[in-house]
Parts: sequence; C-alpha cells; structure tokens
Amino acid sequence: MSCKVIDTHSQLAYVVRMIHCVCNNINTAKVDAAAARGAESAACVQRACGTKFNCGQCREDINHRLAAWRALNPMLEAAE
Ligand code: FES
Repeated sequence: MSCKVIDTHSQLAYVVRMIHCVCNNINTAKVDAAAARGAESAACVQRACGTKFNCGQCREDINHRLAAWRALNPMLEAAE
C-alpha cells in the first residue's frame, strides 16, 4: 500500500508576513508577538501594539491569525 503525501504548504502560513491592519501597520509578526504575550483578541493586539481600531476592518483577520497562532503553538497556549 502506498501513502501519498500532499504538501499543502501550510507551514508557509506561519512564515509569510502580511499586513493585517492597514490603518496601524500591524503585520503577522506583530500579531504573533502579541499572541505570544497573551493577546486573545484583535482588541488585545491593538493595545499590545499601542494602537486602537480606526476602521475596524482588520478585526476578523487578526482574530483568524490569533486562532492560527494558537493552533501552531499549542504548548505555549497550554503553558499559560
Ligand atoms: S485596518 Fe485595522 S483599524 Fe483599519
């Protein structure tokens, strides 16, 4: 029986940096850093970056990134 490995390049989602909040120039690295310091919501990320929502269009995207970060760092999440 053969086993096919399908590479989804999901590991790249962790490496690629993109802007999540255009208004405040919050990128993936900043969201991840805030998550590592315990940010649990987009509002927490804004506070951690010393900013606040302007248009608020980034809220859902940042929350998705936080969820992805938690999925990629289950040991860090559990350590809290
Ligand atoms: S894109 Fe984040 S407040 Fe506007």
